[in-house]
Amino acid sequence: MAVFISICTQKGGTGKTTLTMHMATYYHVVEKRNVIVLDADFPQHSFFNERALEIAKLRQDPELIATLQQQGRAPYEVRKVAMTDAPTLLDQLADTPDTIVFLDMPGTINIAGYDQVVRRLDYIILPMEADKLTFAAGMMTLDAFSKINRPAGKPLKSYLLWNKYKSSERQTIYESIETMAGQRPDLTILDTRVKDSVVWKNNRSTLFPYGEIKKLIAEINQKLAFNS
Ligand SMILES: Nc1ncnc2c1ncn2[C@@H]1O[C@H](COP(=O)(O)OP(=O)(O)O)[C@@H](O)[C@H]1O
Ligand SMILES: [Mg+2]
Repeated sequence: MAVFISICTQKGGTGKTTLTMHMATYYHVVEKRNVIVLDADFPQHSFFNERALEIAKLRQDPELIATLQQQGRAPYEVRKVAMTDAPTLLDQLADTPDTIVFLDMPGTINIAGYDQVVRRLDYIILPMEADKLTFAAGMMTLDAFSKINRPAGKPLKSYLLWNKYKSSERQTIYESIETMAGQRPDLTILDTRVKDSVVWKNNRSTLFPYGEIKKLIAEINQKLAFNS
């Protein structure tokens, strides 16, 4: 069976693509899981384009090719898909053994196909920043998702993930958002916080894993329980 995960929320720039990339690459290379990424984020398709750029760079750099070969894993598949085609594609992928499918989606949910995709998702991770607007967008996303009919016995499991975490930020913002989020029975707050740092930007890659994501992956393995 394949599991379908999306790091998504209605707000742009919260780290959906960045976190998807770090997770997908780490799962594939380090955890040796079968990974497929569906980039449905029209029109940017930044995940797909970043993979293409990395492959182009690789071709110019024998050292990089050697490093990739040492990893012993051919790059995972990144497919550019239209949101309207994604539901059918997910149905086709559903029986793929032991595969984690990540969906990178647009920041707006009012597009054709979106609800049909959400219906098929197993897990969503809402990236959260320390501001009330991002929280409101996340909760609106959850509310919209909860109105979508789901197959019996397949609840959508939702997680909140702090991204761009700043220890210099007033801690009461984190606390108050966690208190509000904690009142929702349909949402679990992840303990691991991804810090606000250019290293997350600079080390994101569809080919080479960034080890700093390890702690988050360990928590996800434990809490999302999609291990075969
Ligand atoms: N933890 C982080 N620390 C610093 N910058 C980050 C972090 N996560 C994401 N970013 C940056 O924030 C910007 C938006 O991230 P992106 O992943 O494109 O968001 P989205 O896909 O939600 O629109 C990018 O420039 C990205 O490099
Ligand atoms: Mg994006």
